[in-house]
Amino acid sequence: MIDPLTVSRIMDAARIEEVVSDYVTLRRRGANLIGLCPFHDEKTGSFTVSPAKGIFKCFGCGKGGNAVHFIMEYEQVSYYEALKLLAKKYNIEVQERELTDEEKNAQNDRESMFMLNDFARKFFMEQLYGTEEGQNVGMAYFRERGFRDDMIRKFQLGYCPERRDAFSKAALSAGYKTTYLEKTGLSYANDHGQMTDRFHGRVIFPVHTLSGKVVAFGGRILKKDNKIAKYVNSPESEIYHKSNELYGIFFAKQAIVKQDCCYLVEGYTDVISMHQAGIENVVASSGTSLTTGQIRLLHRFTENITILYDGDSAGIKASLRGIDMLLEEGLNIKVLLLPDGEDPDSFARKNNASDFIAYIQQHQVDFIRFKTNLLLQDAGNDPIKRSQLIQDIVRSISVIPSNIVRQVYIKDCSNLLDIDEQTLIHAINNLKIEKKEKDFQKQKSEEARQSMAANETDKSKEKPAEDIPEALQATTLTTANKFEAEARNIIQALVRYGEKELYTQPETGAPVSVGEYIIHELETDGIVFDNPLYMQIIDEFKAHCHDEGFVAENFYKFHVNNKISQLAIDLIAEKYTLSRIHYKQAISENVKRAVKIPTDADRLFELIPRLIYELKILLIKDRQNQLTLQLKQAGHDMSTVASLMAQYEQLTQIRLQLSKELGRLS
Ligand code: CTP
Ligand code: MN
Repeated sequence: MIDPLTVSRIMDAARIEEVVSDYVTLRRRGANLIGLCPFHDEKTGSFTVSPAKGIFKCFGCGKGGNAVHFIMEYEQVSYYEALKLLAKKYNIEVQERELTDEEKNAQNDRESMFMLNDFARKFFMEQLYGTEEGQNVGMAYFRERGFRDDMIRKFQLGYCPERRDAFSKAALSAGYKTTYLEKTGLSYANDHGQMTDRFHGRVIFPVHTLSGKVVAFGGRILKKDNKIAKYVNSPESEIYHKSNELYGIFFAKQAIVKQDCCYLVEGYTDVISMHQAGIENVVASSGTSLTTGQIRLLHRFTENITILYDGDSAGIKASLRGIDMLLEEGLNIKVLLLPDGEDPDSFARKNNASDFIAYIQQHQVDFIRFKTNLLLQDAGNDPIKRSQLIQDIVRSISVIPSNIVRQVYIKDCSNLLDIDEQTLIHAINNLKIEKKEKDFQKQKSEEARQSMAANETDKSKEKPAEDIPEALQATTLTTANKFEAEARNIIQALVRYGEKELYTQPETGAPVSVGEYIIHELETDGIVFDNPLYMQIIDEFKAHCHDEGFVAENFYKFHVNNKISQLAIDLIAEKYTLSRIHYKQAISENVKRAVKIPTDADRLFELIPRLIYELKILLIKDRQNQLTLQLKQAGHDMSTVASLMAQYEQLTQIRLQLSKELGRLS
């Protein structure tokens, strides 16, 4: 759908470090950049970006790829969608033709749902700005609340008409399918089977992902009515997991990084009013308690969070427990209690940014201290309540990962609670031991489960091949696995070093590259790989290795076929190099630094033939196993037996020869 030339222009333009840092805060470390991996839960950065190589790789979870892969993984979109997003970022024009019906069908659900959401967002905005009802009802409501026009536009607020099927009709006649209307929750079928707008008669707050795509909507009623829910929200769907989204994050992320702190509020209107007052590092949990997914999202941008509570909020105590999760993630939490009767929305409308921020600076308190004081007021002199309170605080402190931070709190709370530090330390240590034991048990049962699974496969491997045919099947199965592993090693060498010179041909003096040698060796013996990607890599090598400036790594890394580029990057980024595998003993990091271990590139002349010989020996063994089986079945047919035995013997000879060569290499 995008022509290859444009694809390579996009690939060329997309600097990996620029693309990733739209989503992840990166710090420089040597030639690379390091950050917290967006794809798994981690507290220290193992997520590495190599600007020089144009790729990212997480050494924690193993995910890796080029800029396009990053977008695919992060935004959960197809290769095509990811390219389009990058094209947009780099202002590269993509000529798109009208999709055929088949292509339309092929577009997966997620994309269709995102497209429909985008259509809905536009529709709701058009209704707000361009219709009488929108102006008189929707816009009038926003104005009355004091929302400025630029904010209404920035947050893409909208209006859904009172008529129950206005949106559904519009979407259907624009060609969107009923299934997606239902899947996104924008519409539902009423008792008579007619599509009905979920949000009819409400003002609309679109919910954006980190990258600004609309995943959901919130719709607010306009009048006070205790019988109808004040807000209606999009239901959970394939694209919308409420627990992973934070309202406002798209509009806040840059400010959060800049200020290195984030304000956490409850609602849509709190976020918008604070922006309007000039405070942009703010997100909302949308009325529910925070989830680990949301915390992780925030943690990628900052470690400092201030929770803003309404002055009269009764929900504070209920939310206390949830905050332990924030502490556990290593975040620094502060709490700000607003004056009685104010919420962030109302307070922001009465104060400008600098007053608001000054108020925050003066009144925010550290979470543990806040919690201690709050509970102390409650407990009074009741000894039972007091001991519960101490347990509670101790639990909160015990989850904090940093030793130093814990020390500070222990001191603080010892003062506040009037208990000596040793008692607190003791209680905290007990809790930590308890938790360690639990984790250990969990880990042990997991290990037991895994080793059981492994044993099962080992047993079949150990049975001598001659015993029963199933045993032989098992050996061929493991041979197949080994063969796949060897094949992968060879393709890895081809991708990494394909264009490098291996030796010069004795007769002609012409250089022979690693790739040419590999391919020649494979073809001489008619070896093919089952994996079509491997075969494609080989074919393309043959076709392009004499191109001007051909470098295998770059050629495959940015290959237009996404499967090829993903595979190539995995092969390039793999942590352990061939050389190190051959240095069997674990070498300590210190020794490694002191002794210069020859790299793969230094030893190609021996590594590459080794790979080929190992593969060939494996294939011969496999063939010999088959011959053994055929010999059994041959029974008394002596001529067949003789021919099979001759073949077997011949293979043994070749094997010996190859083993000798291998021995010579090491
Ligand atoms: N919320 C919801 N459904 C409700 C009530 C609340 O989903 N019936 C969510 C919304 O995301 C809302 C947030 O909880 O933004 C906070 O609720 P609340 O403080 O009641 O709403 P506000 O955003 O402050 O809205 P308003 O100021 O218009 O009352
Ligand atoms: Mn409110």
